[in-house]
Amino acid sequence: MFKAYAAFEPGGELKPFEYDPGPLGTHDVEIDVEHCGICHSDLNMLNNDWAFSQFPLVPGHEVVGTLSAVGKEVTGLQLGQRVGLGWHSRYCMTCSSCLEGDHNLCATAEGVIVGRHGGFADKVRANAASVVPLPEGVDERSAGPLFCGGITVFNPMVQFDLKPTDRVGVIGVGGLGHMAIKFLNAWGCEVTAFTSSEAKRAEALELGAHRTVDSRDAAAIEAVAGTYDLILSTVYVKLDWNGYIAALRPKGRLHYVGATLEPLDLGVFPMIMGQRSVSASPVGSPATIAKMLAFAARHAIKPVTEHFPFDRANEALDRLRSGQARYRIVLSR
Ligand SMILES: NC(=O)c1ccc[n+]([C@@H]2O[C@H](COP(=O)([O-])OP(=O)(O)OC[C@H]3O[C@@H](n4cnc5c(N)ncnc54)[C@H](OP(=O)(O)O)[C@@H]3O)[C@@H](O)[C@H]2O)c1
Ligand SMILES: [Zn+2]
Ligand SMILES: [Zn+2]
Repeated sequence: MFKAYAAFEPGGELKPFEYDPGPLGTHDVEIDVEHCGICHSDLNMLNNDWAFSQFPLVPGHEVVGTLSAVGKEVTGLQLGQRVGLGWHSRYCMTCSSCLEGDHNLCATAEGVIVGRHGGFADKVRANAASVVPLPEGVDERSAGPLFCGGITVFNPMVQFDLKPTDRVGVIGVGGLGHMAIKFLNAWGCEVTAFTSSEAKRAEALELGAHRTVDSRDAAAIEAVAGTYDLILSTVYVKLDWNGYIAALRPKGRLHYVGATLEPLDLGVFPMIMGQRSVSASPVGSPATIAKMLAFAARHAIKPVTEHFPFDRANEALDRLRSGQARYRIVLSR
């Protein structure tokens, strides 16, 4: 039996929960969970905000641990190896997206916490293809958040061939946002942090931002009109998106990774005139995760983490809800 923490209804507290994972699939692996980051998406899933949660729900999709079992047909992974597991648990491996290396766009990819049980547990299983070994030089204690939050902000940098000469804005200095600032600074970009928190303005500069702007101050956003090649939104709230479109340079892009639920209300004319675009993306493929880990190791980039033991997961979730987390909370054994 796997020992986990599960919510039994939307908005419910986590309680101890045991389940029988059944026989190990021939292409699957089993991870002894050492650390598991807490993403804002775990809160959304616990609340059933996206209407596809299944209960009991064991959250946790930023797992780092060691392999305690390896399916018969698995190649390239060894027992005892330290690995990470993010949002996806399984890809179809046969659709054109999978065959093109865009596994994260696979229409039938399965989520670690969608209809299966995640990393708030002593063990978790997944298909071997969705597990990525932790390379030398990546600190295992803080690495969990790279596997969802980190790859989600790193992936657009790869997808859009971001240049070191580009000016980039990051909206929201939370779990995703603080990792974006670190990655973009190391990439060579000029980085502006847009934050709603007065306290985080000084903190963002320490993380590697070159300047900060109040994310909710229309006049301050207007003052940076025409500046950015890319603006990455990591917030889940509605902001003045037309103000952010105006902050883009011609050919600039406003890219959403934050799952804002309210529809966008964008004026098309400013996009037409400046050939500006709006886009969004989910996490990243296993190959891009490996690329991110190598980049993080080379530039000594670590998420800034706070640690709670697994049996205080409810307290940890409350801290994330309250907006106090600096900047990613990780459950650690
Ligand atoms: N696309 C994907 O594949 C993917 C993957 C992972 C997560 N996500 C989504 O990304 C979003 C961020 O996740 P996270 O884990 O980084 O969350 P988080 O740590 O809570 O950070 C979100 C940030 O949003 C800002 N914010 C919150 N309320 C605000 C308000 N009322 N006005 C302005 N800004 C506000 C805050 O930044 P400041 O304090 O700096 O203002 C906060 O730190 C979530 O929607 C999550 O579901 C998407
Ligand atoms: Zn996540
Ligand atoms: Zn596929």
